[in-house]
Amino acid sequence: MHSLQCVLQVQRSLRWGPMASVSWLSLRMCMAHSSLSSTTCPNPERQEAGARKDFSSRLATGPTLQHFLRSASAPQEKLSSEVEDPPPYLTMDELLGRQRKVYLETYGCQMNVNDTEIAWSILQKSGYLRTSNLQEADVILLVTCSIREKAEQTIWNRLHQLKALKTRRLRSQVPLRIGILGCMAERLKEEILNREKMVDVLAGPDAYRDLPRLLAVAESGQQAANVLLSLDETYADVMPVQTSPSATSAFVSIMRGCDNMCTYCIVPFTRGRERSRPVASILEEVRKLSEQGLKEVTLLGQNVNSFRDNSEVQFNNAVSTNLSRGFTTNYKTKQGGLRFAHLLDQVSRVDPEMRIRFTSPHPKDFPDEVLQLIHERDNICKQIHLPAQSGSSRVLEAMRRGPYSCYPSLVIHIMPKASLEGVSLSSDFIAGFCGETEEDHIQTVSLLREVQYNMGFLFAYSMRQKTRAYHRLKDDVPEEVKLRRLEELITVFREEATKANQTSVGCTQLVLVEGLSKRSATDLCGRNDGNLKVIFPDAEMEDVNNPGLRVRAQPGDYVLVQITSASSQTLKGHVLCRTTLKDSSTYC
Ligand code: 5AD
Ligand code: SF4
Repeated sequence: MHSLQCVLQVQRSLRWGPMASVSWLSLRMCMAHSSLSSTTCPNPERQEAGARKDFSSRLATGPTLQHFLRSASAPQEKLSSEVEDPPPYLTMDELLGRQRKVYLETYGCQMNVNDTEIAWSILQKSGYLRTSNLQEADVILLVTCSIREKAEQTIWNRLHQLKALKTRRLRSQVPLRIGILGCMAERLKEEILNREKMVDVLAGPDAYRDLPRLLAVAESGQQAANVLLSLDETYADVMPVQTSPSATSAFVSIMRGCDNMCTYCIVPFTRGRERSRPVASILEEVRKLSEQGLKEVTLLGQNVNSFRDNSEVQFNNAVSTNLSRGFTTNYKTKQGGLRFAHLLDQVSRVDPEMRIRFTSPHPKDFPDEVLQLIHERDNICKQIHLPAQSGSSRVLEAMRRGPYSCYPSLVIHIMPKASLEGVSLSSDFIAGFCGETEEDHIQTVSLLREVQYNMGFLFAYSMRQKTRAYHRLKDDVPEEVKLRRLEELITVFREEATKANQTSVGCTQLVLVEGLSKRSATDLCGRNDGNLKVIFPDAEMEDVNNPGLRVRAQPGDYVLVQITSASSQTLKGHVLCRTTLKDSSTYC
């Protein structure tokens, strides 16, 4: 089944033209040293390789295409504790980490934070060790982001710094290997290997299972890449490893990829088609996190409300999908399967003391069942991140996210349903999209004023190759105008968020303690239900479950805080008592 899907996938990519040839080339790069042999990598370390000749000849006479098709597809039937069988040109010993130390650095979104843990989980099982000290690393892996040009520039700059580290490496040590993982590997493919000869490994978002093999190939001095996208990889059986013992919260990926094809967005090209992880494996992960004592999970996906677990046949009847009023999809409507409301219901039942958040929904699918659950469950946070992108219907049509006359009514619909007091709204906005006029911009300003978001993520538009906007639209808003509009949006957002947050002053809020405040050693920091940061002095307090007992708050405790002041990003207050999530519902 899996290899069949993978073959289909390769055939599809071949039909799709340019992307296909790169995937094919990348597959070939995985298969053999062929196109990236020592002539294209004039690194002395790569040329000496006497002992490695044997390895190279094994590579050349090695595996068939079928072998790679099999190993590139997600072998989800395998037990997670198993290490992959070595391909014919590697020994088991070469495939193992042999205590080499890996340093992982994460850029970009929360999805990348989760991907970092997945990549680490796979490498740990192969015998690698993790280090947080860059200087002692044998392998440095950057988990990258391509969403805007600036994000990629940060990685190129980082690679220049790492080059120095690689050159300074002592001959007595094992050579330092550097890998680019995630969206940038997927978007730029062999361009990275050509531009930065010091990069040894490329792994796209669906190729992390292949990391041990890619690193083993790199060990021989060859560059190694796997940027094949999958139709079914969800890493369902790879439990991410929680590395911070004091962590109170974790991200749980529930789906991968995106089918929405908003015209500005590179994500469908770097993360591939949308696919959902089976509900059972998500619940298993949430249960494990609860057993580890974590108090908050955020369910992650590019578009969580279109979650659809089709893995259990009995739920695949043709139940129609209800879209938010006025919205349409850019793809053929899907049917059946277990939907997000079911998942949210199940996840929230795992541990009543565990807060549940989710991000990000797309406005087009926001079912009332989800709003109902938010309303009735104490441990589902009343926090909704609903990316609007613009306040202008014209721009939203151009973004293929319209019709946007529907968005304000959707927001207004959400508020009473989720019980307006306390619902925290956040959004993403893009300033200066193709064709955006001053009038369009003013409409976005009005939306910000009207909704009074509690949190906002605002960006200047950055044209990305491959997207529909790149092919069909003109990036015609001058850079300085984009930046000026962005500044204006930020100013309005801050003014309105300050007003929205000030409505909390005088209220008592439940705060999950994260630890010491970054700014003051005498203050603690935590998050309220709406995910806003709350700062309060580290003082003794009563524990409501043990009357008379005086305690100090620890990371992972729930405390009640009386809010005394608010800004656009933070609330301040003083702590009243330690409590539990269940008990606190009567206080707020
Ligand atoms: N330019 C600027 N911002 C973008 N985003 C996505 N693509 C681009 C782009 N090309 C923003 C959107 C999205 C958020 C994750 O990043 O606002 O919701
Ligand atoms: Fe990009 Fe749109 Fe998908 Fe979000 S929903 S990841 S903005 S294509």
